[in-house]
Amino acid sequence: MGQILGLGVTHFPPLSGPDQNLGRILKRALEDPAVPETLRHPEGWPAAMREEYGADAGLTSARHHREALVAGFRNARRLLDEFAPDFVVIWGDDQYENFKEDVIPPFCVLAYESLTTKPWEYYRGPNTWNEPADKTFYYKGHPGAGKYIATGMLEAGFDVSYAYKPLHHDLGHAFLNTLLFLDYDRQGFPYPVVPFQVNCYGRRVVAQQAGSRGLSEFPSGDELDPPSPAPWRCFDLGAACARVVEKSPWRVALIASSSWSHAFLTPKHHLLFPDVDADRSLYDALQAGDYKAWRERPLSAIEDSGQQEVLNWMCLMGAMKELGRRPTETSYVQSYIFNSNKCFAAFEP
Ligand SMILES: [Fe+2]
Repeated sequence: MGQILGLGVTHFPPLSGPDQNLGRILKRALEDPAVPETLRHPEGWPAAMREEYGADAGLTSARHHREALVAGFRNARRLLDEFAPDFVVIWGDDQYENFKEDVIPPFCVLAYESLTTKPWEYYRGPNTWNEPADKTFYYKGHPGAGKYIATGMLEAGFDVSYAYKPLHHDLGHAFLNTLLFLDYDRQGFPYPVVPFQVNCYGRRVVAQQAGSRGLSEFPSGDELDPPSPAPWRCFDLGAACARVVEKSPWRVALIASSSWSHAFLTPKHHLLFPDVDADRSLYDALQAGDYKAWRERPLSAIEDSGQQEVLNWMCLMGAMKELGRRPTETSYVQSYIFNSNKCFAAFEP
């Protein structure tokens, strides 16, 4: 019978760069001409945002933000090493990287032999590890496990796609950053990886290339794509995945990777800061083991709060509900100025 460790983490891209870069998304958003004049300066911001920005344009807060995230990753890595999985499954979004105009699968199991990538080849500026541009990372895949999971999902009525090799991109940032950050101390990452893509960006996956656009270029109406899978469907898919893995002979870490509300997806805040209140209530529900609140959160509310990437976590929550788990550890890293709130959670067996 399979053994399962559940983990929730983030893949916040600016963590790969220096502290000065952590606020770059806000800096760019503020330059957009569509932002109302009153919101262009800290005086017009919510008090907590102003406080976080402080007198040094957020640099002190950036240091604290990094410390909290690195602590979360070190803790997740410790739990992972203690559990010693046969492989890890990572639920992550593809941000117009591997999946583009030619196909956008709702879900896709990447049953690759191996995952090889050079993250700094086209990276602007230094990375926080000072690694050279040609530094290559090799991770083991697990085609057998990928096929097993895809088979189990299909037999359970979840029509997932699968792939044996990359289409456009060697490894999307949701998966790559998760691996880079789970190995923040560069001891290596020995566990085979089965990425499980979720089309979190839905209506904005091609329309805005699943990335940040200024307010004046924020697509709407007919410019939008069809939606992402429904939150309840992601939840149920996670539950089915837990059942499939439970029947396997393996020790498996099921990892959800994403920040929660994103400023650049929250038009009601002029794309300047995330929906802190909405994330807080999801976090309260996580701590309370209130899975119903998670599963019943409508897609319209998720989109309104810029929580598209939370669909990755929706899969994890479904899996943990299915296993009757409550989180054994949680931590929450709130931020108005660093694009998103982040959460770490562990569900130990
Ligand atoms: Fe992402």
